[in-house]
Amino acid sequence: MDTYNALLKRRTIRRFLEKTVSFEALEKCVEAARLAPSARNTQELEFIVVNNAEKLEQLNKAVRFGGVVAEKGRVKGEEPKAFIAIIANKEKSDEAYTSINVGIAAQTIVLTSFEQGLGTCMLGAIERDQIKEILGIPESYSLPLVIALGYPKETPVTEEAKENNLRYWIDKKGVLHVPKRAIENVLHRNEF
Ligand SMILES: Cc1cc2nc3c(=O)[nH]c(=O)nc-3n(C[C@H](O)[C@H](O)[C@H](O)COP(=O)(O)O)c2cc1C
Repeated sequence: MDTYNALLKRRTIRRFLEKTVSFEALEKCVEAARLAPSARNTQELEFIVVNNAEKLEQLNKAVRFGGVVAEKGRVKGEEPKAFIAIIANKEKSDEAYTSINVGIAAQTIVLTSFEQGLGTCMLGAIERDQIKEILGIPESYSLPLVIALGYPKETPVTEEAKENNLRYWIDKKGVLHVPKRAIENVLHRNEF
């Protein structure tokens, strides 16, 4: 899969097959994230990979999903089958750059997952204190983002946003539609 096609085809996945995600697949994601760029090469980020059934159940209660899952409720068996928590060493963190570094690491994990046939959902709406306790994250680390992973059980589609309405919606067949702004609305040539 070439990078450009992966970037075009990748969609957030919130419904997953009942298939375990191996530590090997998760470690491959972290290997790529480890080598991702970071401002001033700070490398303040570390990663906790989780595929243990008990921990998954606990984590699933501490995250909030949008899309079909929010609208129609959670379906047993369709929950994420793994999580990667991105944590940042507070001593090495930088107000201006850490969140940018997190975004780059997250997209790196998402694309490495995609190449392995995995679906992902970046999760910012999380119970941070609860997750820190579940995963034993020390006080000296922050928890900016969690990524849910699993083999996809849905195929969301993009469509051109109409009248700037960016709300995603579900059709009668249960397919998630994700409106995206048209290129002429986001691309400026040579000046604004
Ligand atoms: C930083 C960040 C945080 C997000 N947090 C959540 C979240 O808490 N729950 C959720 O269901 N989706 C979350 N998403 C996924 C977005 O809703 C999704 O990217 C958006 O609807 C566009 O869909 P697409 O990823 O398929 O293009 C998050 C995405 C990003 C980049």
